[in-house]
This record gives sequence, C-alpha cells and structure tokens, in this order.
Amino acid sequence: MYSEKVMDHFNHPRNVGEIENASGVGTVGNAKCGDIMRMYLDIDDEGRIQDVKFKTFGCGAAVATSSMATELVKGKTVQEALAVTNKAVMEALDGLPPVKVHCSLLAEEAIHAALWDYAEKNGITIEGLERPVSDIGEKEEEVEEEY
Ligand code: FES
Repeated sequence: MYSEKVMDHFNHPRNVGEIENASGVGTVGNAKCGDIMRMYLDIDDEGRIQDVKFKTFGCGAAVATSSMATELVKGKTVQEALAVTNKAVMEALDGLPPVKVHCSLLAEEAIHAALWDYAEKNGITIEGLERPVSDIGEKEEEVEEEY
C-alpha cells in the first residue's frame, strides 16, 4: 500500500527536531484528524534555507511527507521552497494512497507558515506566498476534489 520511499521516510524520518532561534516557525493542524505539524527554518542573509527541522504529532504519511519536504527545501532559496508543493513531495515519494493525500498538505502548509513567519519578522513580502491557515481542513476539501 505504501511505496518503499514512504516506508523509508516513515521509519527513518530526516530532519526531525527543533531549531533554536529559527528564522521562521510555522505550525499547522488538521482539526479533522487532530494531527499537528511544526516546521523550523534557518534562513541566511541571502534568503537561502540553511537548515530545516520538523516536529509532528501526526500519522505515518504526515511523517513521511514532512521528512521528504524538508529534504526538498533544504539548501533552496525562499522562492524555490515556495514551489515545493505537496504534489512534488508525493511524487518524490513515489505516491501516496488516495486517502492519505491530504496528509501531505500539512507539510506544505507548515513550510508556508514558517516562511510567512520569517517574512513578518523581517518586514518583507514573499511573492506568491499566501497567508497560511492554521487548520488545513478547508484546503483538504479542495484537494480531495482534485484527486
Ligand atoms: Fe491526519 Fe494523516 S491522518 S495527517
């Protein structure tokens, strides 16, 4: 049911933890399943993500997608990180079962929330970044229609 990559990232999640004095921290939850995700970004003066860590109280698919998402945004610029969608994360994991697609939104939204926090702290605007929601339940319905 799960790809080998999903199982690998679930069993050995990358970049788990916290970053002290992070440039941006984002927390999102899904009220429907009760899962919560927190992302920490360390962004240098050039706007490049030097380090990223996550903590989650979430299901296996949420763990695996967040782990892969952190790998994909590490070393990227803020703009490049913004382009890492939940779809890209799922592709990198060789797919997710349809009922688990919504779990991948937690990672994407938590990264956006952390970028938003970074932008606010620095008084900058990140082009294309929308104000993140704290509960992704609403977005989930949109995604379910797409798949
Ligand atoms: Fe809640 Fe997967 S069931 S994130």
